[in-house]
Amino acid sequence: MAPICFFLLILLQTISSQVAGESPTTSFACNPKDASSKNLPFCRAKLPIHVRVRDLIGRLTLQEKVKLLVNSAKAVPRLGIGDYEWWSEALHGVSNVGPGTKFGGEFPGATSFPQVITTAASFNASLWEAIGRVVSDEARAMYNGGMGGLTYWSPNVNILRDPRWGRGQETPGEDPVVVGSYAASYVRGLQGNDGGGGGDRLKVAACCKHFTAYDLDNWNGVDRFHFNAKVSKQDMEDTFDVPFRMCVKEGKVASVMCSYNQVNGVPTCADPNLLKKLVRAEWGLDGYIVSDCDSVGVFYDNQHYTSTPEEAAAAALKAGLDLDCGPFLGLHTENAVNKGLLSEVDHIDQALANTLTVQMRLGMFDGSSHPYANLGPRDVCSPAHQQLALEAATQGIVLLKNRGPSLPLSIRRHPTVAVIGPNSDVTVTMIGNYAGVACGYTTPLQGIGKYTRTIHQQGCSNVACKDDTLFSAAIDAARQADATVLVMGLDQSIEAEFRDRVGLLLPGRQQELISKVAESSKGPTILVLMSGGPVDITFAKNNPRIAGVVWAGYPGQAGGQAIADIVFGISNPGGKLPMTWYPEEYLKNLEMTDMGMRSSPSKRYPGRTYRFYKGPIVYPFGHGLGYTKFVQTVASAPTVVAIPLDGHHTETSTSAGNGTSSFAAAGKAIRVTHAKCNKLSLGVDVDVRNVGNRDGSHTLLVYSSPPAAAGHWVPHKQLVAFEKVYVPAKTQRRVRFNIHVCKYLSVVDRSGIRRIPMGRHHLHIGDHLIHSFSIQAASLGLGVIKS
Ligand SMILES: *[C@@H]1O[C@H](CO)[C@@H](O)[C@H](O)[C@H]1NC(C)=O
Ligand SMILES: *[C@@H]1O[C@H](CO)[C@@H](O)[C@H](O)[C@H]1NC(C)=O
Repeated sequence: MAPICFFLLILLQTISSQVAGESPTTSFACNPKDASSKNLPFCRAKLPIHVRVRDLIGRLTLQEKVKLLVNSAKAVPRLGIGDYEWWSEALHGVSNVGPGTKFGGEFPGATSFPQVITTAASFNASLWEAIGRVVSDEARAMYNGGMGGLTYWSPNVNILRDPRWGRGQETPGEDPVVVGSYAASYVRGLQGNDGGGGGDRLKVAACCKHFTAYDLDNWNGVDRFHFNAKVSKQDMEDTFDVPFRMCVKEGKVASVMCSYNQVNGVPTCADPNLLKKLVRAEWGLDGYIVSDCDSVGVFYDNQHYTSTPEEAAAAALKAGLDLDCGPFLGLHTENAVNKGLLSEVDHIDQALANTLTVQMRLGMFDGSSHPYANLGPRDVCSPAHQQLALEAATQGIVLLKNRGPSLPLSIRRHPTVAVIGPNSDVTVTMIGNYAGVACGYTTPLQGIGKYTRTIHQQGCSNVACKDDTLFSAAIDAARQADATVLVMGLDQSIEAEFRDRVGLLLPGRQQELISKVAESSKGPTILVLMSGGPVDITFAKNNPRIAGVVWAGYPGQAGGQAIADIVFGISNPGGKLPMTWYPEEYLKNLEMTDMGMRSSPSKRYPGRTYRFYKGPIVYPFGHGLGYTKFVQTVASAPTVVAIPLDGHHTETSTSAGNGTSSFAAAGKAIRVTHAKCNKLSLGVDVDVRNVGNRDGSHTLLVYSSPPAAAGHWVPHKQLVAFEKVYVPAKTQRRVRFNIHVCKYLSVVDRSGIRRIPMGRHHLHIGDHLIHSFSIQAASLGLGVIKS
């Protein structure tokens, strides 16, 4: 997040906050002991927030206002308002990446949940929300202790568009609906929208980032500070916009962050169509828009988007930016006003209204009566919180292969296990990036060691695995032990922020080590991989000597325990891949800079993600095995869905126009804006039976595919609903899906217009076709759904 020049700022920030003392909750504003400010209207908690905000803005000078436009917002001592550092991070636990939060004293660590890609693999929305609640408890506790902020620039909801992306690990994967659901759930958990202070009060303010089409860091000489993402209207509407729209509309997030890159020639932080029009007006953001750190400076200095810094400041504020992470607006906004490039009232006051409203919703102007005051050090790293970190890892870990089956291993029959590999005894590797200081760790070696005797060998000195000097000791260990667990994969030296991968294979000589160990091992060989992005492990998939393969992602502080519990069958794995695992050849002729989601056979462009790519894969999106077996059947579902029209349009008049020729050929597609969409949903009941011998949780991934005639550019299939359900052995559970017809059964034409194709649609669960139904326009404007 931070280019070089920002580090100095962080340093200064840290020093100044130490000098200033550490109790922001009593000193930030409206201190009841401060007679001069406590009775001012903006301090009166009983008044409506917009009245208080207007009062406060009316008291500020231009110079004071400008100093509030940046993340290190300056105090206004004459009004009793303290400094505030807006930048804190909580991607998967309270993090110390932002300068607003630090560890030490009574807060030596915080619960470090699995990296997001792992948690996403649980496909359990209530888990995502529960993690958000725990993280915001810990954040409030740290704020109360003077160690944390209240504005967290998490989650990262960019689509994992390209498997090489170094920050793919931070995201919930490649599917827009999964990413959007994750965003809404995690944000609800963080912000406490369902309770806490009540009304529009915020427990902490979350932020969905980085808006938009940001999913390239540094690839083949192109970096995010200079990249112009060329995105079609079609891909924008049905891929890149989806998670942000869901985050704002369903998650009610209090902030959106614009990105470093340009989209179609305009820096996102200077684009009024993206910020003002789409996020603010159309989606109705109730909160503030913040820049990525230094991104206003970046579009001036690196992209030369404007010729003067004042024009850059004006462009950002006019586009709808409210807060600059970085010093730029603090330095150039006053001159921009003086030069007549900006209006103090229209632009600066509006920006401040958005940021101050969030601070008031957080209770920062309520004096000593701030909410969540009871949370303190004992609420951080509590046993219950650490248990949830273990639970999340257990739910997210994916069993990719289980030949025989050989897993789970038996503690009785495998009393000695060789634990091999550069990731076999790691700690910080397990928490990935944007982490904090964990409460403690259980490494894989320690986790396995709780159940059996272990023989430990590194095999490679690190994940780069440049030489074979440690191979023979590892092979010897495998020869002696009753089973072998190799813990291999990647870490932040291979995939990270500002570090995209160049290929998908395991680094260095890892593959050779794995194959040699598997060849010599006495008992079953299990391969455990840590990685954020997908890895081409075709060799392991095809090698019969490798009995089991487990993907642990970056499983968090309790990762080693979760791995051991799965390997020994204490837990039944239920995770599913949130992204496609491609073979290395997929990258041939695939520029990371090509944003196109859809395949183009004439250009030999393969397309991206399970929705548009149909070529060879290693493991598909949604893949994941368990220790029991589930069967699912449709209990009831309509066979006809009739769409009521709004009365002004008929079916045929909506099918004309640009980009719709194939609809026109098929004759039918209704524009979503012409349909009466409200509450029009497809109700599907699915029975899930656990026919195996073990209790377990099953993830139902429900996809729809539109009529073939709709056009070659529609997704092959699109996830429309998912649900995780716990089913004890030999029992059955019924799951009800209500699929919003206009949102999920529509497709987007080349002009970016959402339409519902008439005709036969199909529902799949996983790879199984489970139901077909037809969509028609309702005559006489009546909606009918027939079973
Ligand atoms: C479609 O768009 C192209 C380019 O904008 C235009 O030339 C053409 O006339 C349009 N066709 C229809 C049917 O509107
Ligand atoms: C989802 O996660 C929650 C929180 O950990 C857990 O209680 C619940 O059992 C999980 N659901 C399923 C179906 O596994």
